[in-house]
Parts: sequence; structure tokens; C-alpha cells
Amino acid sequence: MNKKRLLSFSFATALAVFLTFGVNQFAFAQCSGSPSLDNILDGETPGCLPQSFTLQDLTGLIESFQPAGGEVTSSNAFFQGFGSNGRTCFTCHEPQNGWSITPSTVQSIYSSTNGTDPLFAPIDGSNCPNLGEAATQPGPQFIAARGQMFNHANTRISIDEPAVHNWVSVTAVADPTGCENSQLYGLPTGQASFYRRPLPSANTTFLFPAGGGGANNIMWDTREPSLASQFFDATKNHAQANPRQLEVLTPSVIAEGVNFQNGLFIGQSYDLSADDLTGGDGSGALGGALALTNGSLPLLFTHAPKNGQPGEALAFDIFNTFNSGDEPWTAAQRASIQRGQTIFNTTTFEITNVRGLNDVPGKGNPSLGACSTCHNTVDVGNDFFLTPKATGVMDSSSNVLPPAPDYPVFAFLCPQGSITFYSNPVTFKGVVYDQYETTDPGLGWITGKCNDLGKMKVPALRGIGARPPFFHGGNVQNMSDLVNFYNNRFNIGLSAQDEQDLINFLNSL
Ligand code: HEC
Ligand code: HEC
Repeated sequence: MNKKRLLSFSFATALAVFLTFGVNQFAFAQCSGSPSLDNILDGETPGCLPQSFTLQDLTGLIESFQPAGGEVTSSNAFFQGFGSNGRTCFTCHEPQNGWSITPSTVQSIYSSTNGTDPLFAPIDGSNCPNLGEAATQPGPQFIAARGQMFNHANTRISIDEPAVHNWVSVTAVADPTGCENSQLYGLPTGQASFYRRPLPSANTTFLFPAGGGGANNIMWDTREPSLASQFFDATKNHAQANPRQLEVLTPSVIAEGVNFQNGLFIGQSYDLSADDLTGGDGSGALGGALALTNGSLPLLFTHAPKNGQPGEALAFDIFNTFNSGDEPWTAAQRASIQRGQTIFNTTTFEITNVRGLNDVPGKGNPSLGACSTCHNTVDVGNDFFLTPKATGVMDSSSNVLPPAPDYPVFAFLCPQGSITFYSNPVTFKGVVYDQYETTDPGLGWITGKCNDLGKMKVPALRGIGARPPFFHGGNVQNMSDLVNFYNNRFNIGLSAQDEQDLINFLNSL
């Protein structure tokens, strides 16, 4: 990087900081009694949310926009702690992280509250409740007991084994947290713990059950039938609400929280190198949160895949027009973002061995597709057709992204041949089974079907750059590693330049 470019960068950074702190300091201060922006970034709840505001992330600014107007937080259920541990939805879903939460936010909340913030509640803010209860004072033990939270900003999700299942047994072959084999919280009691990234609580209006089969698509494993049931369960589990406290959750209270999320849109609005992504400077771009809400309602139709079929979809069209801009450094970055969009939409490769895709009638194995085949909802990037898919992320069946050592690994003994495209014969009590190993069985733990093990929903991609680490377990630290994973998994043959273009594009969503 030459000196001139460095100067340009620092000017751009200064501008971004000015835009964030200058504009928003003022906006948040308008709400009476609101903490300062610094405190908001440390997890404190603002007094109100302006209709539109931007906050700094790794590559620029992430915008939140509410078409219906700003929100006084004290009168909305999303920001109230209905349970017993002081948590609200905002505890794990924050605007500077694209309404998820990142390890750096976890760290700053820890530093500013000395570990007293309810984020660290032992129940699921620690690797196992007993570990969290044993380490309540800040320090190395406190952090070690919460390694999943500090390293990946993961929450422990505990779910009972489904009563009906076609695996003959499940065991924890790796249990670094001790929770899976715990007599109190583990498999001996019929429960398992999975460590998962919070999904964004914004752009939820695009999670509609519109596609094939009317399946659900809320949560990584799609277990929640609606945002209302999700609100209830999050209050019960994360906020530890007792039956009495849950009585407060009348349909109208729940609707308030749900409507807030459905009326909240996010998108990257500013990039340190490309500058404005929203077209506000006449560039023709349609990035940022506001443009997401344009188009005739219902948004369902505006965002349906272009040609109605997965694989034929041109998923993103926000950078179709993006002129070079006024500054010398913007032109190159804008051209790269545009190329990245084209790669995402149309660069095809052979999709192989993906249960939930290659075994769908009419598809083959392999089947030619692109990123947009699975991430097909227009300008949002989740799967309109709602079928969870097993791509092999953190499954032993994948030699591309095997489980990292700080995650549990479960071994399922499944009837031979019950898992499509998979074979790993082991003999147990004289019978041959297929053994399937994964850190997180996803949909399989809900349906009880071996063939659903490792299936996860295809998540929406707006604001993705603001919420690393990636994938359900957060074991992929940055965008470059993510693009590398895909390049290897599907032998796409991306050049170094292609990879950079894709990275720049994803960071601009
Ligand atoms: C302790 C952290 C934590 C708290 C508190 C929390 N969440 Fe979450 N949220 C998560 C995690 C982790 C997931 C993903 C879990 C999974 O898939 O099993 C998630 C998922 C979601 C999703 C699913 C989005 C999608 O794309 O499927 C929504 C919506 C959501 N949360 C809203 C809420 C609401 C509303 C509240 C308050 C009632 C809340 N959350 C409280 C951690 C939290
Ligand atoms: C076969 C379907 C499929 C294809 C093709 C596909 N994805 Fe994905 N994508 C998924 C699924 C499923 C997940 C969630 C996986 C998980 O976390 O286990 C995902 C997750 C992601 C995430 C992380 C989201 C998050 O919240 O952490 C990004 C970014 C992403 N994909 C980008 C891409 C790009 C870029 C391409 C093309 C190179 C691509 N995807 C191709 C199915 C697909």
C-alpha cells in the first residue's frame, strides 16, 4: 500500500468515525436519559433508536432502518427483561454487529462491566451451567468457563433428544466442555448442548414460510414454527423466565417484540474503500437498509427469486449500476464489488453430496449451481425454498472444515444406507451401521432422522460482514477463510482476485 493510499484510507476512516460518532452521538442523545454512544457499544440499552442510524463495523458502516419510525426502547418488549436473569433480546442482538453479537463486543462488555453483565449468565453464557456457577468472579477461570462465548460469541443451546429417532445410539466422542457427558446436563439425561451463533434479529420479514413445503426457517435447525413461538422460547430459555414471569407474555406483548423485528432492516451502507454504498452520491448502487424496504408490498413478491427456480436466480442486483465515484480509490473497489456480485450470482460449479439439494427430486448429484442456488432470496440471500441443507460444515463427513478442538463431537450410529451420499461402516454388536460424526446435528436432532443430521438453514446474508465469526458454530474467523472453504468444498477454481472480489461483495451487503 503506498503512502497516498494510506492517507486516503485514514481520511476515509476519519470520515466513517465522524459519521458514526458525530451523527449518532446526537441522534441517541435525543432520547432522554439515553446512555452515551460509547456505553451503547458496550451493550447498554439506548433510550431510543432513531429511525435510521449507522454504526462502525470492520469494513465501514452498518445501517439499521425502521420504515415506521424510531423506537422508544423502554416501551418495547424486545428491550425488556421478562425473565429472572436480567437479559433482554438486546443482550445478544446488537446493531453494531448486524443484530447478532461478536467476540469483540463480548470482550468489551466483559471489560466495562467486570463480567457482571447478564450476557455471562451461567445457564447458556458459559460452556456448561455448572462451570459458569463455579466461576462467577472475573478472571481467567471466568473466561475459561465461557470459552465458547469469548472465542466465538456462541450461546449454549440445550435441546432434548427427540423421543422418536432412527439412530440406535449417540455418544459424545469429544467433550471438551464436559457438558455432553455431564450427569446433570448431558446425554445421560437425554439432553445435548450445541454452541451456536446468534442469527440476526433484523430483516426477519424475509423469513416468511413461502417456499416449497411451507417448512419453517427460524433458527439454524429451523425448529421454531414462528417468530412468536421463538420470542416465548427465548424468554423462557435465555432469560430464564419462570412460569409466573411467562404469564406476562400475552399475544399483544409478543406481537410488539415480533413487529419490532419485522420492521427492522439492516444493510452495509458505507465501505472504507468504496465509500457510499447506498447510491446517495448518485452512483446507482442500492446497498444499505433503506433500499431493502423499497418496492411494492408485500416484500414477499419483491424478493422472490427472479426466475422462480433455484439455480436460475440472480440473487443480488444491488450493484448492477455502481459508477466510479469521485475519489481515486473508490473506482477500483466499486468495480471489485460489482465483479463479486456477478460471481455470486452466476459463477457455476458442481454442487456435490449436499443433502437437502442433491437428493431433491429433479436435481442430480452432482448438480450445477452457484452461490445464488442456495442463497436465492433476492437481495437478502436466505433460501426462499426453505430446505435446510447439509454442506458438511463441522461434520466429520467433511474433510474441508472438520470440527475444531474446542467443540464437542457427537457420533451417531445410523442404519446402513440411511444417510444419502454417505457411508462409514462400523460394526456394533454384530450389526453394521453408518457412523456419522458432527459437532451439531442441526435439523436431525429435531426430526430424529439420520438423513437430517448436519442440516442447517441457509441464512440471510445482509449485514454479514458485521457479524463474524461465521457459520452456525462460528469456527470460521473471517470472510477470507469462508470464501476459501467454499472454493475447496465445491472445487470452484476461484483465482485470488475472484476471492477478493467475493470478499468485498459480501462485506458490502
Ligand atoms: C443469550 C443470547 C440470546 C438472547 C438473550 C436472545 N437470543 Fe436470539 N438467538 C440467539 C442464538 C444463539 C440464536 C440461534 C440459536 C439456534 O439457532 O439454535 C438466536 C436466534 C434468534 C432468531 C432467529 C433468526 C433467524 O434467522 O432464524 C431470532 C428471531 C431471535 N434470536 C430473536 C430473539 C428475541 C426476540 C430475543 C428476546 C426474547 C432473543 N433472541 C434473545 C441468542 C440469543
Ligand atoms: C448447497 C447450498 C449452498 C451453496 C451453493 C452456498 N451456500 Fe453459503 N450457506 C449454505 C448453508 C446451509 C449455510 C449455513 C451453514 C452452516 O452454518 O452450517 C451457509 C452459510 C453461508 C455464510 C455464513 C452465514 C453466517 O451467518 O455465518 C456465507 C457468508 C455464505 N454461506 C456465503 C456463500 C457464498 C459466497 C457461496 C458461493 C461461493 C455460498 N455461500 C454457496 C448453503 C450454501
